[in-house]
Amino acid sequence: MTSPGPFSNSKTSSVLPRRGPGGGTAVATGKVAGQERVPSTAAALCRGSPRPREAQTTYLKEELWGTACPSCTLPTPSMASPMRSLLTDPARYLQSFRLFLEKSTEHQSMREFIEKELLTLIASIGNGKSTINILSVGGGAGEIDLLILSKVQARYPGVTINNDVIEPSADQIFKYKERVAKTSNLENIKFTWHEETAYEYESRMNAEKKSKKWDFIHMIQMLYYVKDIPATIRYFHSLLEAQAKLLIILVSGSSGWETLWKKYGSSFPLNDLCTYISSADIRRMLDSAGLKHQFYELPSHMDITSCFTEGNKDGELLLDFLTETHEFSKTAPPELKRQVIEELKKPECSEKRDGKVFFNNNLGVVVIEP
Ligand SMILES: C[S@@+](CC[C@H](N)C(=O)[O-])C[C@H]1O[C@@H](n2cnc3c(N)ncnc32)[C@H](O)[C@@H]1O
Repeated sequence: MTSPGPFSNSKTSSVLPRRGPGGGTAVATGKVAGQERVPSTAAALCRGSPRPREAQTTYLKEELWGTACPSCTLPTPSMASPMRSLLTDPARYLQSFRLFLEKSTEHQSMREFIEKELLTLIASIGNGKSTINILSVGGGAGEIDLLILSKVQARYPGVTINNDVIEPSADQIFKYKERVAKTSNLENIKFTWHEETAYEYESRMNAEKKSKKWDFIHMIQMLYYVKDIPATIRYFHSLLEAQAKLLIILVSGSSGWETLWKKYGSSFPLNDLCTYISSADIRRMLDSAGLKHQFYELPSHMDITSCFTEGNKDGELLLDFLTETHEFSKTAPPELKRQVIEELKKPECSEKRDGKVFFNNNLGVVVIEP
């Protein structure tokens, strides 16, 4: 529980500000002595641990709207287990994440959604404004961010866009900057990268007594990695301008992730670095709080055929990503490994087609009003 997170960095971005060929200005901002919260209480342990969805939802709902965390009844992590969170090895995490992107239709599904639906969703965010402020939380290497920006540019031609990115991984920021440098038509966009976690950003803003408002905030596939999901949503929701939108993408409650994690989440290494949560959990929270939102289900799959060949390197990396466990194949007890492999083949998780196994990676998009 005390191992440092891969993203609890404290250094300023090492990449110098640069101007891309399209003229987009890239400004790197360093973080100011932000700290990750230390999971010192039962609540913190509960928050960071996979747990039965129902209990988790109640917990999240109550936490979001101000009631104390119910007592945690989860099994305590076994200190003897050699299994550890994948997030304790940032390099392997990024390697497995990139392989996941390669083997899945994750970004293709998001691209289709952005192409078809985003224009309608952002139709009014910049009305009457000379500058549109966009905040990307956990923007990664920027693939999806740049697509979103192109849609905002198309909807509001000539308007200046401030695109701030909160991203704790220096490696991801480096890749994001490379992408910006290679992309044309970014003349009206000013990029600012904050090499820090969502919580560090919030703490820094509070310390500086700033509460900058935004016209569009997105958190795409990142809420698993914050310690306090309700507080994070609450904070960023409070930063929305009157016409703004907060967009969250997470795995869908109908995905194979839900089946796998509901059944085996408590057997995967307990840690405070990653929480299993689906868009269904977020929706339940928002519904009970009466917060208006729209929902879209995006079909997506991942080819996990290699997971069923013992010793296959890609298969091992994908298993790590699926279980959020470092070297799952080598460190999981044989019986757990056998059961997880069997589970992954079942129709609740995957579909067999043309001799391949496709894991259900459906995504849920939640768009919240101010
Ligand atoms: C699964 S990736 C998603 C990246 C990108 N949004 C995409 O969909 O391709 C999650 C990203 O969240 C970042 N991240 C992890 N913990 C975070 C935190 N506490 N606050 C903000 N971002 C975080 C990671 O560095 C990573 O780039």
